[in-house]
Amino acid sequence: MKKILITGSAGLIGSQAAKFFIEKDFTVVGIDNNMRAYFFGEEASTKWNKEKLETDFKDKYIHHNIDIRDKEAIAALEKITGKKANVEYTDVNREGDHIWYISDVRKFKEHYPTWNYVYDIDKILEEIVDKGHF
Ligand SMILES: NC(=O)c1ccc[n+]([C@@H]2O[C@H](COP(=O)([O-])OP(=O)(O)OC[C@H]3O[C@@H](n4cnc5c(N)ncnc54)[C@H](O)[C@@H]3O)[C@@H](O)[C@H]2O)c1
Repeated sequence: MKKILITGSAGLIGSQAAKFFIEKDFTVVGIDNNMRAYFFGEEASTKWNKEKLETDFKDKYIHHNIDIRDKEAIAALEKITGKKANVEYTDVNREGDHIWYISDVRKFKEHYPTWNYVYDIDKILEEIVDKGHF
C-alpha cells in the first residue's frame, strides 16, 4: 500500500494535496489540529474540510488531530508511518517562497482578462479587524 503523510491536511493546500494523492491511489495520513480556528476563530475552522475528506474518501484518508510542533507528535508520526522523521528545528524565519501577488496583479490579469477585484487589501484588512481578530 502506498502511504503519504500530509501536514495541514484540512487546510487549503493540504486538502487538495490529499485529494490529489488519494486519486493516485495513495492512502493519506493527514495531520491537522485545526490551529486555524485557534488563531482566527470558529469561522476560520477547517473542521468541515477534515470531515469532507473523511466522508469523501473513507479509509483512504486517516486523520490525526495532533500538533505538528510537538516532539511527542513527531514520535507519534514515526510510529504511524514506521519511518524515522527527518526533522530540523531553526530559529530563522522562512524566506522567499511566498509572494503576495495581491499588490501587483498585472500578470494575473494578463492570464485572466475578465477577472477583477472584489476586495482590495484595505477592505480585506478592515474586514479582519471588524471581525475582532486584532
Ligand atoms: N495558499 C497559498 O496560496 C499558498 C501559497 C504558497 C505557500 N503556501 C504555504 O502552504 C502552507 C499551507 O497554506 P494553506 O493556504 O493551505 O493554509 P491553511 O491555513 O488553509 O491550512 C493550514 C492548515 O494547517 C493546520 N495547522 C496549523 N498549525 C498546525 C499545527 N501546529 N499542527 C497541525 N496542524 C496545523 C491548520 O489548522 C490548517 O488547517 C502554508 O505554510 C502557506 O504559507 C500557501
